[in-house]
Amino acid sequence: MGLAVSTVYGLGMIALVDDAVIATERLVLRPLQVDDVGEMAVVLADPALHEFTGGAPATLDGLRARYETWVEGSGSPDELWMNWIVRRIADAVAVGTVQATIIDPDGTATALVAWTIGVPWQGQGYAGEAAVGLVEWLIGCGADSVIAHIHPDHQASAAVAGRAGLRPTAELSDGEVVWRRGCLAARLNLDGQSV
Ligand SMILES: CC(C)(COP(=O)(O)OP(=O)(O)OC[C@H]1O[C@@H](n2cnc3c(N)ncnc32)[C@H](O)[C@@H]1OP(=O)(O)O)[C@@H](O)C(=O)NCCC(=O)NCCS
Repeated sequence: MGLAVSTVYGLGMIALVDDAVIATERLVLRPLQVDDVGEMAVVLADPALHEFTGGAPATLDGLRARYETWVEGSGSPDELWMNWIVRRIADAVAVGTVQATIIDPDGTATALVAWTIGVPWQGQGYAGEAAVGLVEWLIGCGADSVIAHIHPDHQASAAVAGRAGLRPTAELSDGEVVWRRGCLAARLNLDGQSV
């Protein structure tokens, strides 16, 4: 997915998203393409993935429509949608997805991140490894703050966030705890609830 974001969007961050491939020790995160849909429909087929986030697995057509929307983008100059397929480097098998919604309403770029690993590949540290790669990449590209909304009982996702350097705040969003990793500027803009 070639994103000429630095010219299309007014975002203060991200000069290098044309090449938004993120590599970690065992994984490579590549920008999602609509052609990934067949493989991902299988990876995301288990209803257990929705235990804490709600909803149900999408049909193939539903997932294709979603991916087409995601690739098209938000249509807003202040909001950038980025989605990656997480693949094992060893065999190129897709194991999950990560995403970041980046907003920059006032010159302070905030990235809202989320992660999903297919049930057969869970428990091997893939989500934590992908999250570390994603968050470091976002900060390296200029994100002032990275946040995640995590159900208070979702221990695995909380552990993933913690491994990526996010910390729980006192903020709630639709009943989910707001986790945050922020730089000094982001902290100064907040009300003291975050770390
Ligand atoms: C959350 C999710 C991505 C974790 O994927 P994963 O690849 O199994 O995670 P990891 O193997 O990296 O494990 C992450 C941590 O959670 C811990 N963990 C895993 N399953 C756990 C469980 N059922 N209860 C408590 N802790 C658990 C691991 O021990 C690990 O902790 P550590 O880093 O301290 O060792 C996966 O469960 C998932 O896709 N869930 C559905 C989608 C979702 O809810 N995403 C979160 C939206 S923000």
